[in-house]
Amino acid sequence: MKHPMSRRHFLARPLALPLVARGAVPGDPIEATLEAAEMWTMVGDRSALLYGYNGRIPGPLIEARPGSVVRIEFRNQLPESTNLHFHGLHIPPDGSADNSFRVIPAGGSFQYEFTVPSNHAGGTFWIHPHVHGSAARQVSRGLAAPFVIRGELDEIPEIQSAPEFLLVLQDFELSDGGIPREPGFPERMLGREGNLIAVSGRVQPVIPIRKGGWVRLRLLNASSSRFYRLRLEEHTMFQIATDGGALPVPRPLEELLLTPGERAEVMVQGSRPAGSFRLVNLPYSRGNFGTVTAVDDSTLATVSYEGEEQQPVRLPERLVSLPPLPPPVRVRSFALGQGMGMMGGGFTINGRTFDPTRIDTRARLGEVEEWEFVNGTRMDHPMHIHTNAVRVIQRDGSVEQSLRDVVLVRAGLRVRVRMQFLDYTGKAMYHCHILDHEDLGMMGVLEITR
Ligand code: C2O
Ligand code: CU
Ligand code: CU
Repeated sequence: MKHPMSRRHFLARPLALPLVARGAVPGDPIEATLEAAEMWTMVGDRSALLYGYNGRIPGPLIEARPGSVVRIEFRNQLPESTNLHFHGLHIPPDGSADNSFRVIPAGGSFQYEFTVPSNHAGGTFWIHPHVHGSAARQVSRGLAAPFVIRGELDEIPEIQSAPEFLLVLQDFELSDGGIPREPGFPERMLGREGNLIAVSGRVQPVIPIRKGGWVRLRLLNASSSRFYRLRLEEHTMFQIATDGGALPVPRPLEELLLTPGERAEVMVQGSRPAGSFRLVNLPYSRGNFGTVTAVDDSTLATVSYEGEEQQPVRLPERLVSLPPLPPPVRVRSFALGQGMGMMGGGFTINGRTFDPTRIDTRARLGEVEEWEFVNGTRMDHPMHIHTNAVRVIQRDGSVEQSLRDVVLVRAGLRVRVRMQFLDYTGKAMYHCHILDHEDLGMMGVLEITR
């Protein structure tokens, strides 16, 4: 029998990943090398043949500030082509910045370079491959690296003083020999899920908390299809940030749903006398196809009371505020569909599967648009838009006071978002972040021009 102590792995602050790069002051250039390669690594007590950046699952953390110049020397040592996408960053969608059209062949290298705008929101972003047709496979083999921008939220004393943990959620499906299993077509249609879940590369890590004190959890869903419905036993989570940065006020939650690609930051207070509490992943059904995916053990991590008691402090009532968005000049509709017959089960947006040579949507720099996603399928689709963050229009017609880049469009339902095309022209993409759906065609090209 396993002694419970054998599962105790303490995460160091801010996390157990090496910092490849961090800018000490605004404007400090950040230089990093990222090498993608296939490697044997341990996930919990299993050895696995995965893909990693710099030999790690997940890849190293890059931490920047508004105004940072970022240079990443990227080397592709994989046996196949790949590239880097900077998910959620507001940077140019072309050139040597967030250019998802550029493909780096096996053995090739490329220098990515961009400047984080000086008014960029702080938040949790990430890097992952984005080659159409192989995104799901490469991400599900482990390629993901967190990219944090320190901003306004990090200056709030009650938040700054809390120990911070980064939880990168990844799932793997391995053979007994530790080789990733490539799913068949039906599984790709649903979106592949693996039943070995890693939290920042570890299985069921322990997060220490002090009685009375707060911890800050940065959560990133880096799985290719799995949704996480998170609950921390006997503790309320206070959400302070969504994908694109801080919320105006902390939002108390008993449960948090994190769809693929999505991020959230929550604060948790040591409000119990003592003990260990499980961060559990509750079952979630991604549509009306009759299966609820469950794993053998739904415990993702444990929050454990230790150390000295702390004098409790209150979270501030206000965090940061968002400037209002002008009204939209245009409303567009995007029908999410699934091909029949000849289409062989591909996924479509407005009846078409992805074609990199076609422009599906033309927008004007500076304009505000409202996009409505209409899900006519029996599956949920978390829709993601590159380059500019969006604000969700709520049921009552008000605009959500938070920035997102992944919005869940549930089976049979519709969701409206608004965004302004700021600063950059070029071609960007929008797609379902169930990466098998993206690979099977549910992606479009947006061109922003002057
Ligand atoms: Cu996280 Cu276009 O992807
Ligand atoms: Cu993205
Ligand atoms: Cu989808």
